Amino acid sequence: MRRRWFIFLVLSIGALAAALSLYRFPGLDFLRPGRRGAPATTPATATSPASMGVGGRVCLPLPRLRGDMSLEEALRRRRSVRDYSSMPVSLEELSQLLWAAYGVTETNWSLKTTPSAGGTYPLDIYVVVKEGGVSLSSGGFLAPGSYRYDFRSHCLELVREGDLSDKLCEAALAQEWVRDAALNIVIFGVYERTTRRYGERGYRYVYMEAGHASQNIYLQATALGLGTVAVGAFYDDEVKRVVGAAEGEPLYIMPVGRPVSLYDLREGELRRYYEKNR
Ligand SMILES: Cc1cc2nc3c(=O)[nH]c(=O)nc-3n(C[C@H](O)[C@H](O)[C@H](O)COP(=O)(O)O)c2cc1C
Repeated sequence: MRRRWFIFLVLSIGALAAALSLYRFPGLDFLRPGRRGAPATTPATATSPASMGVGGRVCLPLPRLRGDMSLEEALRRRRSVRDYSSMPVSLEELSQLLWAAYGVTETNWSLKTTPSAGGTYPLDIYVVVKEGGVSLSSGGFLAPGSYRYDFRSHCLELVREGDLSDKLCEAALAQEWVRDAALNIVIFGVYERTTRRYGERGYRYVYMEAGHASQNIYLQATALGLGTVAVGAFYDDEVKRVVGAAEGEPLYIMPVGRPVSLYDLREGELRRYYEKNR
């Protein structure tokens, strides 16, 4: 009798292990909650524009989960930066910025760096890369153009080829920091994803979420010694056309570049400020 129980136990553990490995198997990802099918293109590592994968897919280096700057330091140093040098941003830095903006931080449900009402995740993130704006570790630069960030694979999908910074700058009421930046991260909101569940109230949730993603980009840029500014003044239809977004409305353009000067706040300065106002 005992022996039978033992065999039953061994078989049960075996079946459970098999089920768990199936659940984790990448090809069966659709079985996992919160996942929609990943694109079937072959991922390629970005070593040069020529090595771009099938359908213009560039997989980013994995993001670092530890950094050198504390949250307090990033908060006190964060400032809107509009003056950039002509130095490029590296692919590793771009990877870090996009992960901070809307990257995955929990792998069962694909939860992200930003909170989201009901986990509806209404944002689509695009990046418009300037000619010579993003350097590759192997030498050379990422091909200029507009790319969509696929958060599930942490890869970029080429949407439009060519240097679009002048056109994006015009669409943003000729704000020159959009043209001068090495790259522009453009945050789109696809309202239906959230209004489908929350009705009219969903609109405000989408705007709030864009704010979360924008602040993440600000803080990550600061921690990397880069500069950015949240640009909200632009012609929506023009931005949509330039970026080539499939759906949604543009909510923010975040130019990113190497700042000409870095901002910092001194402790004494803050103390004097508060004392004066007490
Ligand atoms: C909703 C929103 C829209 C903004 N739009 C623009 C813009 O179109 N152009 C720009 O240069 N700065 C823009 N800014 C940045 C603000 O000018 C900036 O945050 C403000 O001057 C405070 O400076 P700080 O970010 O350095 O603290 C925007 C900020 C927010 C929150």
